[in-house]
Amino acid sequence: MNLDELNAIACKMVAPGKGILAADESTGTIQKRFDKIGVENTEDNRRDYRELLFRTDNAMKNHIGGVILFDETIRQKAKDGTPLVQLIEAAGSVPGIKVDKGAVPLAGAPNETITEGLDGLRGRFVEYHKLGARFAKWRGVYEIADGKPSHNAVHANAHALARYAALAQENGIVPIVEPELLMDGDHDIDRCEMVTEWILKEVFQELYFADVKLEGIILKPNMVVPGMKCPRQNSVEEVAERTIKVLKRCVPGAVPGIAFLSGGQSDEDATAHLSAMNAIGGLPWALTFSYGRALQAAPQKAWSGKGENVAAGQKAFAHRALMNSQASLGKWTKANESAA
Ligand code: 13P
Repeated sequence: MNLDELNAIACKMVAPGKGILAADESTGTIQKRFDKIGVENTEDNRRDYRELLFRTDNAMKNHIGGVILFDETIRQKAKDGTPLVQLIEAAGSVPGIKVDKGAVPLAGAPNETITEGLDGLRGRFVEYHKLGARFAKWRGVYEIADGKPSHNAVHANAHALARYAALAQENGIVPIVEPELLMDGDHDIDRCEMVTEWILKEVFQELYFADVKLEGIILKPNMVVPGMKCPRQNSVEEVAERTIKVLKRCVPGAVPGIAFLSGGQSDEDATAHLSAMNAIGGLPWALTFSYGRALQAAPQKAWSGKGENVAAGQKAFAHRALMNSQASLGKWTKANESAA
């Protein structure tokens, strides 16, 4: 492992004004997205859709520092035969790969999950590196409810994240460490703050035990927000302040970048929250986006699987990428949405 190289990759992914496009939906997850727009979930349609994104030149070159891919996509070629990975590299962006195999029930913790995929992971990293991946993603999932998350779930997922991260670094790949506390539920922002802090403390403890070098990772956390069904929804400023408070308590300054998931927030909320956090300023890490839904819902709708809508889809993607780029610099305003 060469830590300088890992650090350089991580810094490139979160360079000023840039963030990450999470386009790593599994075949099952993209099915849910395609169902919404009436598109059949075929290999060709998945390829056409992702090609549309990766050929959105302006957005890719100026605002997208890295793209997270699914196993199928990292092996796929564009219609003209160019590997999709090459489209990403040609735009100056870093290709990455989702390596976890999803969340399964955790024994001893009813209705909680542990993320699988560690068996054989060293060999898979070797192959993915050959295919062009220079970073990876692993997502641990936690939920707030009565008695949840349990210590068992918090600890087991942190341990798995750390084992994954150490294996990634061993193979010259920057690990995105993603502990996601879901927004489901009616809990208030205090509870989210407390549990997010607990999860992050546990994750960084396990990363330390596993000898993961913090200069060569990217953290992908949830923001501190109330549950979606909570009657009291907090202001943008409150969410920004709470999130920064927790991150400052938990994330060492050695970490080059923090790139949030959008987690079901509206497109505009995800952008507004990120901008408000960056407007606070004086942060030791780059603070940016690694959005799936909040970058892609608009282009998916505009495209709707029709060849004649490719330009409209690209325009919608470029717009969200620009808005989030501005947010990563703390310079987004609501007026920019309509001005663009
Ligand atoms: P969302 O932004 O849609 O939450 O997706 C990000 C992601 O990569 C989840 O693992």
